Amino acid sequence: MSMPHRAVRRLEETESLDRVAGPASKAAGRAVRPRPVRNLLSGTSLGHPLHPVLTDVTIGAWGASAVLDAVGGPATEPASDLLVKIGIGSAVPTALSGANDWSDTLGPECRVGLVHAMANSAALGLYVASMVMRNRGNRRAGRALGWAGAAVMGVGGYLGGHLSYVQGVNVNRTAWQQEPDEWTPLLDDAELADRAPRRVDADGTPILLYRDGRRVYALAATCTHMGGPLDEGAIEEGCVTCPWHGSTFHLDDGGIERGPASTPQPHYETRVRDGRIEVRVPARDGQGEPVERARHKVREGMARASTT
Ligand code: FES
Repeated sequence: MSMPHRAVRRLEETESLDRVAGPASKAAGRAVRPRPVRNLLSGTSLGHPLHPVLTDVTIGAWGASAVLDAVGGPATEPASDLLVKIGIGSAVPTALSGANDWSDTLGPECRVGLVHAMANSAALGLYVASMVMRNRGNRRAGRALGWAGAAVMGVGGYLGGHLSYVQGVNVNRTAWQQEPDEWTPLLDDAELADRAPRRVDADGTPILLYRDGRRVYALAATCTHMGGPLDEGAIEEGCVTCPWHGSTFHLDDGGIERGPASTPQPHYETRVRDGRIEVRVPARDGQGEPVERARHKVREGMARASTT
């Protein structure tokens, strides 16, 4: 195990951080509770988590500034100063969107998130100090503070990458599911009572079935946000609400009514044949192959390639 990995593993196991991480993440959760705030900071209308988009701006600006400072010379100074200011300006919405995501974490993720936030706050402080020094004409101190900020930002960025790529925070939990791309019988029609959600299995993929009068709805039962069980969520007004963090999805097309989810819930066509409820990935007339089927074919191809 590499040294950075060992260090992060220790961080994950440091339960004493919970004394700060728990209450602070809960307070962040209360602050972002209003639906418009939640949707905005989660990237719900963007169709992608907002935080990684904004971090690119901040890291890009400060990283480029560090390079220009290293090159040095009067020609690079105005651009470097401007990049420091752009990074400071973008750091505020970046931090807010990060706090929104952090409010949904628990345990090891919450601990790593706390240190990630602390490192990035320290980087922001160093860059603000760097800007002050630059404005006063003390370029040497401005550059040194900027490089220190870049180093601390690197630590924060490493932890952010760990949160996403190792711990899977905010990763679409349905991305690897095997979708029923052909009509697949799931349940006897008589077994699905009206307005009583059922979790059924389609070749290993859990699916939520819900009957409302004559219509039967089918959605992936695993919440795209962080894997909550939608079959245990409240259903009202044509929507299901995840019991974990409150993402609300339309039953008919999986569209998001309320974040923190930013990826719509996979939904399926339904029909009744020979007394059995069947589902499949929806066909799209004239719009090419549904992405779920294309993905399925790619996976099958990879599986075949790995066995030959
Ligand atoms: S798991 Fe977070 S809203 Fe469903």
